Amino acid sequence: MLSLAIAALTLAAGTATAAGQSACANASSMIDPFLLQGGWDVSLLEGTFYELAYHDYTQPRTLCGCERSVKTVDTTTEPASIADLFTLKCPTDSGEGEGDRVTHLEFNTTSEPAQLHGKCTFFKPFGTTICPDYVIDVGTRELGEPYPWVLEFQCVERRTGDLLFAGINFYSRDKSEETLNAMIDSAYAHGLGPFIDGGHPSGLKVVDHTNCTYPPVDAR
Ligand SMILES: *[C@@H]1O[C@H](CO)[C@@H](O)[C@H](O)[C@H]1NC(C)=O
Ligand SMILES: *[C@@H]1O[C@H](CO)[C@@H](O)[C@H](O)[C@H]1NC(C)=O
Ligand SMILES: *[C@@H]1O[C@H](CO)[C@@H](O)[C@H](O)[C@H]1NC(C)=O
Repeated sequence: MLSLAIAALTLAAGTATAAGQSACANASSMIDPFLLQGGWDVSLLEGTFYELAYHDYTQPRTLCGCERSVKTVDTTTEPASIADLFTLKCPTDSGEGEGDRVTHLEFNTTSEPAQLHGKCTFFKPFGTTICPDYVIDVGTRELGEPYPWVLEFQCVERRTGDLLFAGINFYSRDKSEETLNAMIDSAYAHGLGPFIDGGHPSGLKVVDHTNCTYPPVDAR
């Protein structure tokens, strides 16, 4: 999720809620068993990922594009942490070195596998600045393989239990359509369908990375 985010505080975020149940109650149960049974290792998240698609009302959908996430894992901190250099380009067809917007996202690991905490000052008006971030699937079932892709789900509730924010990020080391399709299949298979199809705007924004240029991976 993105804190430079603009308009969206109308927050008719849509509900995936069954009556009487909080909207994010099932989020942790959507995490793939591979990650719960030894496959989770935060250091395998390190590297450069392109955002192939997203469902995230805090991201400017029309003007900007070329979203990329460069994740640097630090296992010497307690808890282990991820510095996530998230960049996008506005407008998308700006030349190399132009129009790049840089955001520094921060995540911590928690005691639970594949459950992170992200800084989300965006939601301060709603009483929270730490948002749960679930790694739902990673594109491999081989222990120790750097994750080829990462399907992340941020789920934030209002105090009432209604959904405040559902963010789904499709991050991949490669930009292929094959990978995008595998990730979309995985998202639905893991139960994210109601969150993808709900909300305003509903659905996924697919990012066209054709002709994209990106700032240096150590941009400030
Ligand atoms: C959570 O999962 C249970 C059991 O699969 C289901 O009955 C319920 O509707 C789900 N709740 C939400 C909010 O998706
Ligand atoms: C991460 O942990 C550090 C050290 O406890 C803390 O200062 C920071 O606020 C945490 N950040 C998030 C996003 O949870
Ligand atoms: C990519 O650049 C080429 C050459 O300038 C142009 O013809 C094409 O329309 C561009 N594609 C996109 C998706 O921007």
